[in-house]
Amino acid sequence: MASEKPIVAVTCTAPVNIAVIKYWGKRDEDLVLPINSSLSVTLHQDQLKTTTTAAISKDFTEDRIWLNGREEDVEQPRLQACLREIRRLARKRRSAGDEDPAALGLSYKVHVASVNNFPTAAGLASSAAGYACLAYTLAQVYGVESDLSEVARRGSGSACRSLYGGFVEWQMGERADGKDSIARQVAPESHWPELRVLILVVSAEKKLTGSTAGMRTSVETSPLLRFRAESVVPARMAEMARCVQERDFPGFAQLTMKDSNQFHATCLDTFPPISYLSDTSRRVMLLVHRFNAHHGRTKVAYTFDAGPNAVVFALHDTVPEFVAAVRHCFPPESNGDKFLKGLPVPPVPLSDELKAALDVDPTPGGVKYIIATQVGPGPQILEDPRAHLLGPDGLPKPAA
Ligand code: DP6
Repeated sequence: MASEKPIVAVTCTAPVNIAVIKYWGKRDEDLVLPINSSLSVTLHQDQLKTTTTAAISKDFTEDRIWLNGREEDVEQPRLQACLREIRRLARKRRSAGDEDPAALGLSYKVHVASVNNFPTAAGLASSAAGYACLAYTLAQVYGVESDLSEVARRGSGSACRSLYGGFVEWQMGERADGKDSIARQVAPESHWPELRVLILVVSAEKKLTGSTAGMRTSVETSPLLRFRAESVVPARMAEMARCVQERDFPGFAQLTMKDSNQFHATCLDTFPPISYLSDTSRRVMLLVHRFNAHHGRTKVAYTFDAGPNAVVFALHDTVPEFVAAVRHCFPPESNGDKFLKGLPVPPVPLSDELKAALDVDPTPGGVKYIIATQVGPGPQILEDPRAHLLGPDGLPKPAA
């Protein structure tokens, strides 16, 4: 009977992050070491999060993993790298003379179940939250307390930045073994309470070129990427950290847009070229620039990852007017009240002057919906056993 052989289970959540200085390119594919440092904003888990349960038991005969309810191949190399790395850290701890009972679980197989509270297909960065959550949860189960950057990074580079809340930098490091390639918090989530983040979901299609393959081709072929990594990013990292420290919104916003644009320029400089932006993405860029020009200062910024969705930063008092501008340019197609998800945004009328300044032919349905969110904390442990995604038999609980 399952109850006679208890399993040890832990459930944690981890956030999505969005880079404002982009990571693009590895110097070591195996260890996932980047060619430049990067800096990101951790998004609030009330809107976007991964939840993961990891369980160990003497009874389990193999490692197994379920993602959003479906069993996946546990042999996948990145997953194996994470498991190997966390077990190595756990062994290191035990050999240091720690007799913590959790360390005994090292010889046990693990079952992992993970779900996102947002559609994976929306093209939002689910791998960062997913691997950060995996690293964090496995660390609890195996009693590992050391830095988890390497564990998360081996899953997906950007995942190491989801190990912390607020504003986070991933220092590229110099060492060949990657020991100094770690994530570090630049400022906590409480640092800039007025900052808001809007995710403009423009397409739910699967992307043509994944990040891993895309950045490999860029490293091999783009001279612009090399120039960016060596000669542009170091100064930008320092400047972005300053903007965050001083809560300098126009500085933060301009640098965020420039860095997104340069990342997409390196994609176009890749051969054969890669393009992640769509016509709607470019319309959003135009909208942001015209909105800012109308106000005579930088009140809104966009950034795009390896896909067409826009992530927009603004201070809270700008959000209602900007959302009205998005509705004007991209009239919601079907269900108007589902257009805005997440934090509430009061409706406001758009002035005729701003309408004229935007000067667009509306594109109905161009933006499918908006998720309004803010800066948030890092991974959390859920103490309530009802949160476990795995039952006492170590198998996924049937979805409620
Ligand atoms: C454009 O972290 O997904 O989002 O390390 O190969 O898994 P791998 O790549 P990934 O790349 C993210 C690229 C980006 C920029 C960023 O998040 O910094």
